[in-house]
Amino acid sequence: MSEQIKFFGESVPLEMHKVRIIQKLNLVPIDQRVKAITEAGNNTFLLTNDNIFMDMLTDSGVNAMSDIQQSSMMIADDSYAGSATYARLEAKVKEIFGMEYFLPVHQGRAAEHILAKAFVKKGDVVPMNYHFTTTKAHIGLCGGSVLEIHYPEALEVDSTNPFKGNMSPELLKDVIKKYGVKKVPYVRLEAGTNLIGGQPYSLANQKEIYGICKKHGIPLVLDTSLLADNLYFIKVRETAYKNKTIRQIAREIADNADIMYFSARKLGHARGGGICIKNYDHYRVMRDMIPLFEGFLTYGGMSVREIEAITVGLDETMDLHMINQGPQFIEYMVSELKKKGIPVVTPAGGLGCHIDAKRFLDHVPQTEYTSGALGAALYIAGGIRGMERGTMSEERKADGSDTLAAVELLRLAMPRRVFTLSQIKYAIDRITWLYANRKLIGGLKFTDEPKLLRFFLGRLAPTSDWQQKLAAKFKSDFGDSL
Ligand code: F0G
Repeated sequence: MSEQIKFFGESVPLEMHKVRIIQKLNLVPIDQRVKAITEAGNNTFLLTNDNIFMDMLTDSGVNAMSDIQQSSMMIADDSYAGSATYARLEAKVKEIFGMEYFLPVHQGRAAEHILAKAFVKKGDVVPMNYHFTTTKAHIGLCGGSVLEIHYPEALEVDSTNPFKGNMSPELLKDVIKKYGVKKVPYVRLEAGTNLIGGQPYSLANQKEIYGICKKHGIPLVLDTSLLADNLYFIKVRETAYKNKTIRQIAREIADNADIMYFSARKLGHARGGGICIKNYDHYRVMRDMIPLFEGFLTYGGMSVREIEAITVGLDETMDLHMINQGPQFIEYMVSELKKKGIPVVTPAGGLGCHIDAKRFLDHVPQTEYTSGALGAALYIAGGIRGMERGTMSEERKADGSDTLAAVELLRLAMPRRVFTLSQIKYAIDRITWLYANRKLIGGLKFTDEPKLLRFFLGRLAPTSDWQQKLAAKFKSDFGDSL
């Protein structure tokens, strides 16, 4: 049985849950939207929720919980040490992934901090399929650097490659040869590769990479924050796993790695994180850092309520009908936009729908933060908040010039089980209007620029009065509509 649902007529993503609690949304008038984005320094991170209609900033910590997750929070055992709640999480992680040891952390980047501190020394290189912002920053703080060894297709925005997240085994062998085993503390493979558009890797690729790592005695570390999406794509795109259950695929992933860390703000639909470890020596170096940086070993900086929700959330993630909602909604949005000629990352990945800002705004140079400008414009057009994933998310070079991002994207994340299909249709409508009026959109420049991870708190201003012109066109096209 395929577990997939087929339609007699038009195929649509079908929710396998019902909505039993809601939160009212605001769609503020266009003049208020221009004012709000100005006050937010044109940085969507600095908008406030009362001014946002569709929050597509991220899927981190904002996925809808199930009734069982919520009710589990009521039985949380609130103790500093030896909490029964923690024991339940530890047992669940072991049951699903089969790795011997587990360490709790307060979120994904905390795991990255611990891993980098435990293993990365000055001058080390960490090969990976692609970097994530916080991963790279933590490795850099320990004096190491990141080497991206993907296939060229990873950066081809418009592609048919089902596994753009794959790592190149040939390049990995070259890196090990060039730097030597001692300079490679671990190899990192990221599931549902975030910054290239939520693109998965194949299990065949992971196994090949693990084989090389084992041969050289280098640990393979998986970032499984976006594992749910990657599991779904292995099941539906990798023929060898068509008839395997999600649970079986998850176990095979864990069997072919040494360490798995995750943000439970994504994996497990709650808020927290963890590190699963196969080998005692690896566990031992990291363990002693947990009470120092996170909290005692039986909570790791997490609330026990969230720990209960993660335990249930991880179990629920082992269900195809739970994990298919995100990718299927994203696929719908991507294919509808593509039909209208709007440039989007293909194939549709997990995490969200990614608009190729370089092609959408081919008149706005990357030095004027093309995807940041598109993010500000989409907020003005529809009260929709996306996230800049391009040049603004890079750090400046030593000479002070911008590092131009290889892919310049506006990410519209799909918090799981949060939006209805009509809301997605509204977003498609506003993006389509914006595309028709794209020539009105101009660039941005920094007015306040933090040195590290500037995209979080940096403030920018438009390079001209383009936002007023865009708002005027909206009013002439939509009248007094919100
Ligand atoms: N790794 C990946 C692949 C991630 O996507 C994230 C977070 C982290 C690590 C860090 O986890 O936020 O719990 O500290 N991604 C969020 C996002 C921030 O919006 O994509 P965290």
